Amino acid sequence: MSNTAHDQEWVRKPGEAANGTACTLDQYQAMYSRSVDDPDGFWAEQADRLDWFEKPGKIANWSFDPVDIKWFEGGKLNICHNAVDRHVAAGNGERVALIFEPDDPAAPNRHITYADLQREVVRMANTLKKMGVEKGDRVTIYMPMIPEGAFAMLACARIGAIHSVIFGGFSPDAIAGRVEDCQSDWIVTADEGLRGSKKIPLKANVDAALAKVAAKAVLVVRHTGGDVAMTEGRDHWYHDLSADVGEECPCEQMDAEDPLFILYTSGSTGKPKGVLHTTGGYSVWTETTFRYVFDYRPGEIYWCTADIGWVTGHSYIVYGPLQNGATALMFEGVPNNPDHDRFWQVCDKHKVNIFYTAPTAIRALMREGDAHVTKHDLSSLRLLGSVGEPINPEAWRWYHGTVGHGKIPIVDTWWQTETGGIMITTLPGAHDMKPGSAGKPFFGICPQLVDGDGMVLDGATEGNLCITHSWPGQARTVYGDHERFIQTYFSTYRGKYFTGDGCRRDVDGYYWITGRVDDVINVSGHRMGTAEVESALVLHPKVSEAAVVGFPHDIKGQGIYCYVTLNSGEEADDVLTGELRQWVRKEIGPIASPDHLHFTPALPKTRSGKIMRRILRKIAENEFGSLGDTSTLADPSIVETLVEGRLNR
Ligand code: WT7
Repeated sequence: MSNTAHDQEWVRKPGEAANGTACTLDQYQAMYSRSVDDPDGFWAEQADRLDWFEKPGKIANWSFDPVDIKWFEGGKLNICHNAVDRHVAAGNGERVALIFEPDDPAAPNRHITYADLQREVVRMANTLKKMGVEKGDRVTIYMPMIPEGAFAMLACARIGAIHSVIFGGFSPDAIAGRVEDCQSDWIVTADEGLRGSKKIPLKANVDAALAKVAAKAVLVVRHTGGDVAMTEGRDHWYHDLSADVGEECPCEQMDAEDPLFILYTSGSTGKPKGVLHTTGGYSVWTETTFRYVFDYRPGEIYWCTADIGWVTGHSYIVYGPLQNGATALMFEGVPNNPDHDRFWQVCDKHKVNIFYTAPTAIRALMREGDAHVTKHDLSSLRLLGSVGEPINPEAWRWYHGTVGHGKIPIVDTWWQTETGGIMITTLPGAHDMKPGSAGKPFFGICPQLVDGDGMVLDGATEGNLCITHSWPGQARTVYGDHERFIQTYFSTYRGKYFTGDGCRRDVDGYYWITGRVDDVINVSGHRMGTAEVESALVLHPKVSEAAVVGFPHDIKGQGIYCYVTLNSGEEADDVLTGELRQWVRKEIGPIASPDHLHFTPALPKTRSGKIMRRILRKIAENEFGSLGDTSTLADPSIVETLVEGRLNR
């Protein structure tokens, strides 16, 4: 079980001269040992790089049974101060904080210095205050990938408001659900977003959401200049409302455990959970992980292609890089527009040094051929990163060989919305790499593999991935539902944080994430609860039942496969297929678009009525030979019908 084809495929780290001074292997080992033997001492030291209004009295104070997680208690700080003001105060105001590369390559880009950023964030913060936003209020941010999105996040942090960023690809219903769940009275949005020259009607989506749930005010940033409806007394143009605000706005002194943000993420059951991160631990975790994993050096251009609507954008476009005084590129567009070389053209144009993207993008671009890459000068690249899903060795080798000219390291970073930042990765300069393996635990991280009964598995083995000790960036709760937090993460294996991922550890102690072991699927690096798609489908008047599973997809990693039974008398046809697809897009958003709709007269159920998902997964994967025991099904003949249905597609 422990040895697979790739275990011994080492890619040696490039020589010291070309790379990696942040940390050598010996230093990693010494620092890692210290981080687990003396976490208080270790994290007090890391935390010291930040400015604190008051230093923490206690460093770690947590328990996983009962669940109560606190870090840096007694400390007071503000992450906006550490990400912005601190650098200006240190005389680095002229350093570029954000480079904005718009969707249209011909449109002007923007270079925003730390001094500019401070002015912009203060302006946004004072505008939010003018609207009535107060410390502790929840502010929904539904923005395109423009600098104002980052300004809004930092402005909330500055005044102690809790931001809840919603990805611009989510539907009005999804917005309404999230606004309602955290009782957010305030919304920041833009007229429209732009992606691959397509317009996204952000303000119109907010209007549709607010037909279902109330909000006190909407702040609208003008971006495309498109026509939008403004509701008198509720909606305000940012440029109008901000015209006369003051130029001073001191950072609120936040307690280390004061909430910083909520970010909704899908789980195996129910509606999305509002994962809550707090100020002190998240600040230290994102500052430290960015510093060591990306080995950032002053003056370098760093580009993470994620969207600020996901945790990757929060931690590694905004908070991690800016706390480190880095120059981060923000890209509004998509990898394949106007052509498949857009990423590489941007790398060349801005002389990007560190590039962090997702396997799904790598696979899609790899398919378009090397010429799109080789026609650009990518010699500025020094480090590559991957995040969001397991990277298949073939894509890894292409990324390393073609994009990284075979010379530069790749960090394959495993982490989750709930972990706040990177948990398992190799460190550039310290570790050799293995294509497809995330690598080694980051400082302070204690991974453990357990079997289905919770038995701890040692050595080279495969099991369910748990983390046994808290780390500063860990989520503290599910907003408004602490019981659900405990249930979801700490009840499967009592006293341990259960990640929901399966994982293999090889003889060298490298970790290989094998994917989710729960009913969560990973579509293009986006996490999707199959239950959410099922709920959306059964809301359709013609649908009686639905079961959704993932299946291997060349580009997306996993695709969405939906088994649907219709109400009696309804006919399945192409029109209904199209209608259901649209229906799910409308309920959740385009990212939840079903790849396959498989109409079936019934679903395979046990005599107690439980759907046998194992069978549905195998059939979706075209693995008919290994369906396993079907004798406990109430009607075993349904399996044959399903297989036939699959073969006829
Ligand atoms: C799930 C978390 C981490 C930010 C983006 C996604 C999968 C993430 C990797 C990786 C293998 C990975 C896991 C995890 N995942 N990174 N490098 N290798 N799998 O955050 O939406 O919270 O999803 O993404 O399955 O549990 P998320």
